[in-house]
Order: sequence, then structure tokens, then C-alpha cells
Amino acid sequence: MARSTLLFHLSDIHFGLEDGKALDWVRREIAERRPAAVAITGDLTMRARRREFAAACDWIRALDVPVTVEIGNHDMPYFNLVERFLAPYRRFHAIEGLVEREIDLPGLAIVPLKTAVRAQPRLNWSKGWVSRTALRNCLAAIDALPPGTKALVAVHHPLREVGTKGTALTVNGTRALTELARRPVLAVLSGHVHDPFDIVEDTANGPVRMIGAGTLSRRLRSTPPSFNELTWDGEALAVRVRSLDEVPTRDMQIDDVPADALPPREPGEPVAPVNQVPLEDPPVH
Ligand SMILES: [Fe+2]
Ligand SMILES: [Fe+2]
Repeated sequence: MARSTLLFHLSDIHFGLEDGKALDWVRREIAERRPAAVAITGDLTMRARRREFAAACDWIRALDVPVTVEIGNHDMPYFNLVERFLAPYRRFHAIEGLVEREIDLPGLAIVPLKTAVRAQPRLNWSKGWVSRTALRNCLAAIDALPPGTKALVAVHHPLREVGTKGTALTVNGTRALTELARRPVLAVLSGHVHDPFDIVEDTANGPVRMIGAGTLSRRLRSTPPSFNELTWDGEALAVRVRSLDEVPTRDMQIDDVPADALPPREPGEPVAPVNQVPLEDPPVH
């Protein structure tokens, strides 16, 4: 039988407000367990400050395994709006050279799908948005994989609401899930909500699994700092949530799934079918 593949799924480290004790523990776990890859699903920093990216680079550089990092809403300039509009990813590029955009393993690939945008036509820019370009790039990357290869899609925002305290409200998330369901996608890996989950979403094209990792920062919501340990044996993908306190996986995972990913409605307002959410890009993305 082929050897199984071990992956670590980390998220929301938020350097600047990171949990140092948890990070030391994760670094030791990576050194001892030697996962084939580490996927970090965004919010690497607290406010995209240069010193926060420098600390992130130091930590990643010390990991002697392939790492991929998806951009989170906290990884773009927060205070400097001019820079946010003109060069939103310049600070994030500090990690270039240390990480890979896509990680290709035998029979398995980690493919990115960007959900954080520099601006969007609603007040809260921290929420998710899958642009046409981002989805096209992701689908093209999956379609270019060697035959028989399975994909893990790395995003920052969950593509639909997952019952956590934190929300993603990802525009075009349902559309993206529906497209991913037509492809050999093992799961969508996400962060942002700071609590782990493992759910299956049904779409018009079939089911898609969504796996969320908790946070390794001090910005806790419902669960202590944690990361996900993923094991792929060629047939099944097992998820174990690891926390310093060794809270059992089922007790860590949020599993209450609400009906849709739309913003909360006013009382009496009719429910809009999710397929009416237009696939539009924000003015700039
Ligand atoms: Fe976060
Ligand atoms: Fe986030």
C-alpha cells in the first residue's frame, strides 16, 4: 500500500498578535512529524505591518518543509489606503521566495483560490469575494494537474457560512463551490473564522468538503489555538484538530451549518435564492 501523505493546515497566525507558546509547539511538531507540506490559509499578520511580515518570514524560514500561504484580509495595508489601492500585495510579497504558490505532491496538489480583495462595494472589506479572475485561475490550475491528481483548494474565507461566530459572507462562494464540485477536489481548506470545522456542502454539481483551521493567534473566538493535521491515504482524507490542550477533534469542530452565505436579513425581508447572487467583480480587485 502506498505511504500516506501528512499535511499540516495552519491559519490566522496574525503575527503582531500571535500566540508564541502555540507557535513554538507547532514548530516543534513540524520538525518532528515532517509533514509533506504546510498550508497556511491567510491572515499571516495582524495589520500587514512590515515588522509583522518580517516575524512571519523568520518563522517560516525556520520550517524545513514546503509551505504555501494564501493571502488574508489582514495581509493588505490597513491604515495606508493609497498603498492598499495601488499596491495591495507589495507587503505580502515579503514572503515570496520562502513559500510556493501551488504545492505539487505525488497524486495530490494544493491549489490557491484568492478570496481577499483590496476593496468591495459593501462597507465591510474584511469579508470574502471570489472574483471572476481568481476563480478562473484556480480552475485552470486544477484542470492542468496530471490525470488522477486530487486537489486541495486553499482559500482564506470559507466559501459559505459554517456556523462559527466569525462570518465570511463570501460573495460568489456558492458559485465557486459549484464549479469545484465538478473537479477532483478533495476539500477546500480555509481560515478566517478562527474556529475549526469539517463539513460537506451539497451543490448542484455534487458535494464539496470544506475544512477550516482555527487560529494560532490570541484572537480567539470559541476554541483554543489549534491547527489541522490532514492525512491522505489515497482514498480518504482524515482530519485531526490539534490543540495544546489536546481537546478532542469533535469538541473543537463547529458543525452547525446555516442555510446560506448571505448577509443577515431585516425582519420580514424575503429570502433571496443563493443563485441570484451575481458573479460580479468589485470595482477593483
Ligand atoms: Fe483572522
Ligand atoms: Fe480573515
